[in-house]
Amino acid sequence: MSELEKTPGNYDLYIRALFAQEDAALQTAREDMKREGLPKIHVSPSEGKLLHVLTLLTGAARILEIGTLGGYSTTWLARALPPDGKLISLEIDPHHADVARHNIERAGLTHKVEIRVGPANESLGRMLEEGEPLFDLVFIDADKDGYVEYLHKAVPLTREGGLILGDNTLSDAVLDPAGDSGTKRYSAAVAAHPDLVSIIIPVLRDQGLDGLLVSVKRTGH
Ligand code: SAH
Ligand code: DHB
Ligand code: MG
Repeated sequence: MSELEKTPGNYDLYIRALFAQEDAALQTAREDMKREGLPKIHVSPSEGKLLHVLTLLTGAARILEIGTLGGYSTTWLARALPPDGKLISLEIDPHHADVARHNIERAGLTHKVEIRVGPANESLGRMLEEGEPLFDLVFIDADKDGYVEYLHKAVPLTREGGLILGDNTLSDAVLDPAGDSGTKRYSAAVAAHPDLVSIIIPVLRDQGLDGLLVSVKRTGH
């Protein structure tokens, strides 16, 4: 028996086979996104499962997602909600939102998921103004230069003890002290935030290593 090369992608195949197998709805969602010309930048199945497990762990009934794409991560998250749970996902591109709605419908999650089309910053501003009920979990995965602003708006929208998750927080930029990226600035802002207790969890994808920054909102400690 020949051993596989010790690449992140090969370790990921092992994790996927054991813990993150896609059903027909998730497979079709990926095929659909490809056919519709969406960029292939959704979370990997194993990171999707991590989002699902974190949702269960938090007992989240209300989730806010920033960056819907074709509804792939949305599906992993929404499937961990209780029967009366709700997920609101923010997306700037109407075509992406259409593809996502179709995929959410196919996964039987339409009653739990609402997609709001527009710049996330505006949608978040409206939520703050209009007194949107707090979220148990926020997943930030849209334009990287917007992350720091999304963080500032997400913290007051998150309940005490809730989670704020930032995707794509391990990149080449973090290995270069002079390197700059939107997610590196996000991680620095999270690290300096007095009300967040945080760690980056490395995640594996076919393309290699990335990170999910997990923050628990914990005020006054
Ligand atoms: N969470 C998805 C991937 C999201 S990709 C998944 O893992 O399946 C990032 C998405 O953010 C894209 O669909 C892009 O159109 C959207 N986006 C980019 N800029 C945005 C903005 N300013 N407001 C809202 N969405 C934005
Ligand atoms: C990109 C964006 C993502 O959210 C991701 O998970 C991977 C890649 C990108 O813009 O290249
Ligand atoms: Mg991402």
